[in-house]
Amino acid sequence: MLIDRFGRPVTNLRISLTKECNLACFYCHREGQDDGERVMTPEEIERVVRIASRLGIRKVKLTGGEPTVREDIVEIVRRIRPYVVDLSMTTNGTTLYRLAEELREAGLDRVNVSLDTLDRKKYKKITGFDVLPWILRGIEKAVKLFHPVKLNMVVMRGINDDEIWDMIRFAAEIGAVLQLIEIEVPREMEDSPFFREFFYPLKPLEEEFERLALEVRERRMHRRRKYFIPIDGKVAEVEVVRSMHNTVFCMNCTRLRLTADGYLKTCLLRKNDLIDILGPMREGASDAKLVEIFKEAILMRRPYWK
Ligand code: 5AD
Repeated sequence: MLIDRFGRPVTNLRISLTKECNLACFYCHREGQDDGERVMTPEEIERVVRIASRLGIRKVKLTGGEPTVREDIVEIVRRIRPYVVDLSMTTNGTTLYRLAEELREAGLDRVNVSLDTLDRKKYKKITGFDVLPWILRGIEKAVKLFHPVKLNMVVMRGINDDEIWDMIRFAAEIGAVLQLIEIEVPREMEDSPFFREFFYPLKPLEEEFERLALEVRERRMHRRRKYFIPIDGKVAEVEVVRSMHNTVFCMNCTRLRLTADGYLKTCLLRKNDLIDILGPMREGASDAKLVEIFKEAILMRRPYWK
């Protein structure tokens, strides 16, 4: 098991498969962004995951950009399936209708779908594309195949903060989990007009959930709480992701990242924390050498908010 200098076990790997995306959400933190043109092949991804699993990593999340713009996405899922306990993907949903069954068959356990609004015009404003009805069909198919399906809603002031309860109701109706997410930016962007305009603090809502919930469960990862909220004769499962200035969030981070161009990365918000693993692999590094690279990355981990 990998444990960092702050006593945090590292059990999760989040793999960005590409920086490309077929939508263009205006608030996106562009997590898959990279400089080079290097892209990991399915074989290379499998090798990294195999090493990671030997080191105690049990959960893998595939992300992007949009992971399903890769034509070999099903092969990637199939290859890494044997090495992990829990394999999930975060997707914008544009390809779900077409791919959900194949992904399920290849061994994907769960999907998170980005869905910030149920209003078609607003969806187009946020993402740049008028495809909400298509996304909803994909989600409808996904909830039949994956348990759970999580809907990611980034709550933005003046954009979709009026839709929180509609989304809670919708999630309960279709049997999905709703994740309400605060906008997240690095320190140096906190004074930006973008952040000032759109940041919508979720703490008050979380306090309301504490009162309303039939049950509250806490997860190890980031110590996030899940609330079971009664609504219209159903029960919605709602999680709240508040990362900004949240020391508890960081002290309970169990995640390492791998960028699309093959660097281990310790934190979404940090810069200069990239450790090349694909380069050494292509130069013929042994498994033992790759293990050393993982350990080096683990030693670089430190909480962003502290
Ligand atoms: N702040 C918070 N969450 C974000 N996401 C994308 N950009 C941001 C941001 N600036 C979330 C989306 C998507 C997931 C991959 O990341 O909800 O589902």
